[in-house]
Amino acid sequence: MPLIPIDAINGRIENEIRNVLDSEAHLSGFNQVNHAIEFLISDAETFAAVQVDTRDSFAADMVSGLSARHKQLPPKYFYDATGSRLFEEICRTDDYYVTRSETALLRNIAEELAAGIPQGAALVEFGSGESAKTRLLLDAAPQLSAYVPIDISADALDQASAMLARDYPQLSIAPVVADFTGHFHLPAAADGRPRVGFFPGSTIGNFDRDGAVRFLQSARQIMGDQAALLVGVDLVKDEATLSAAYDDSQGVTARFNKNLLIRINRELGGDFDPDAFDHLALWNPVHSRMEMHLVSRKDQIVNAAGHTFSFRSGERLHTENSHKFTIDSFAQLAARAGWSVANTWISDEPRVAMFRLEPIPGRSAVI
Ligand code: TRP
Repeated sequence: MPLIPIDAINGRIENEIRNVLDSEAHLSGFNQVNHAIEFLISDAETFAAVQVDTRDSFAADMVSGLSARHKQLPPKYFYDATGSRLFEEICRTDDYYVTRSETALLRNIAEELAAGIPQGAALVEFGSGESAKTRLLLDAAPQLSAYVPIDISADALDQASAMLARDYPQLSIAPVVADFTGHFHLPAAADGRPRVGFFPGSTIGNFDRDGAVRFLQSARQIMGDQAALLVGVDLVKDEATLSAAYDDSQGVTARFNKNLLIRINRELGGDFDPDAFDHLALWNPVHSRMEMHLVSRKDQIVNAAGHTFSFRSGERLHTENSHKFTIDSFAQLAARAGWSVANTWISDEPRVAMFRLEPIPGRSAVI
């Protein structure tokens, strides 16, 4: 089991106490401390459960993914500490336009987005990483009371939360370490508050279609009826621009992809040689998506988690999909999950979109 750095624990404890003190200022000092301790215990239990669960399911997912006829691995395992760092580096490359276009768009429309955020609302972000784009919203919407960043990487979350706590002392910050595709609860800081979800970065495109609908449905449930959801989506565009974005000329995306093998070696006792695989980014027009693969450079046998896997030369391990939408195809997807598009904004080229979704009244979500 990976050791949890003491800084991460301190950051979490500090945040939890701050949240309880903020939200329960009416209680006596003794009761405040009691509540803080209760939260800490439940937080520690959740955290331990997430760690154990992540390791067990990593092994199980890896074994079943590498035993399949078409080898594949779930992309959530990209995001260990190194993977999260490499991903932030991808976002800063010239070739990966999604972050640049979306950040410029957010900067332009921050006031408009903020106008749709109610007084005292909680902003809930799915897959918050270093929360860089979020600052544009936080700056434009001082009426926000709480910020709930959700991320699978405890390291990324704790670093981001500590910096945000410093820069936004008015805001209660309640980080949740979780796989947001699974079940989780919003922390007490979001109780009784109007909620606005934030899901930028075209992460929705990393689900398959049904997975995206299921995520949007569960977001609707978690966020409640008075919610809104701001979703950033990448739009279909010319293949050259797309291919460069997922195979950048500095090779950061290739390193990010191969880091998955290094993580298997470290956490699951594997003996992958990352240099024996090539990074491959492909446009799949049938599914309207970019695909990431690792391609075996030779016939080889690899061991991990007590299992043996054989790769033929040229055989692919499928590691990620990034679906690209049109305005209409995204609106249809959202409607299947019971959300309607209340507003759409489009960036300059290379174009990405930001949608404001609202629950379709009286319409239950169906797959
Ligand atoms: N949400 C990002 C996207 O689909 C994730 C991403 C960017 C990614 N580059 C990647 C995932 C490379 C895997 C490999 O654009």
